[in-house]
Amino acid sequence: MEKIFDSHAHYDDEKFETDRREVLDGLFSDKVCGIINCGCDFKSSSASVELAKKYENIYAAVGVHPHEAEDVNDEEFAAILKLLDERKVVALGEIGLDFHYDFSPREKQIEMFERQVKIAKELDIPIIVHDREAHEETYKILRKYKPKGVVHCFSGSVELAKETIKLGMYIGLGGAVTFKNAVKPVEVAKLVPMERILLETDAPYMSPVPFRGKRCQSDMIEYTALKIAEIKGISYDTVVKTARNNTKELFNL
Ligand code: NI
Repeated sequence: MEKIFDSHAHYDDEKFETDRREVLDGLFSDKVCGIINCGCDFKSSSASVELAKKYENIYAAVGVHPHEAEDVNDEEFAAILKLLDERKVVALGEIGLDFHYDFSPREKQIEMFERQVKIAKELDIPIIVHDREAHEETYKILRKYKPKGVVHCFSGSVELAKETIKLGMYIGLGGAVTFKNAVKPVEVAKLVPMERILLETDAPYMSPVPFRGKRCQSDMIEYTALKIAEIKGISYDTVVKTARNNTKELFNL
């Protein structure tokens, strides 16, 4: 069986506090060959870099998540940007807009997102985008700067998926395609060519069926990939291998 590359996870999360090492060692000795650990603020971005130093198969993304847009001060922001110089930091992420929770004021989120997209563009590095119920404002910025990257946990329509591909970006698909009430993610998985799809977990969150409600980890991508294979009428190995190659291509691994 082809080995899984998880393009989006959070193993610095406290939910892995007691058994992080055991979990990661288990994954890498079995079905998983790579993980990108995403930062959300200075603390988790630093922790992502530390994990990348410790594990050969972990890479780090650093950035300010929309939830943290209001709380990250200039000093912390500068420190996050400094982390981009570290070896194995492969992207600015996760960054974007979240108008579902609105944990930071929308103007602040937009300001912080645009600031980071500009930097990624200048430095020519990919971004990992979080867009929850904020398609209009998110794509306004993506259209303006045309960065390279992935829209993680893609939740838009088929039309928006088409536009994402046209912009040259990838579509991140995770546990949501397996959910019983999944309509849009299934349509998107069907339409988007495998060459533009990345597989992801968002571990410890977004466990696929049959693990909903349990802590998510990267080997559960198996169930997401099986579902995508079924939707597209292609083999499991083709899904996993193509997504892995896409991830390596985008993040220059
Ligand atoms: Ni995430």
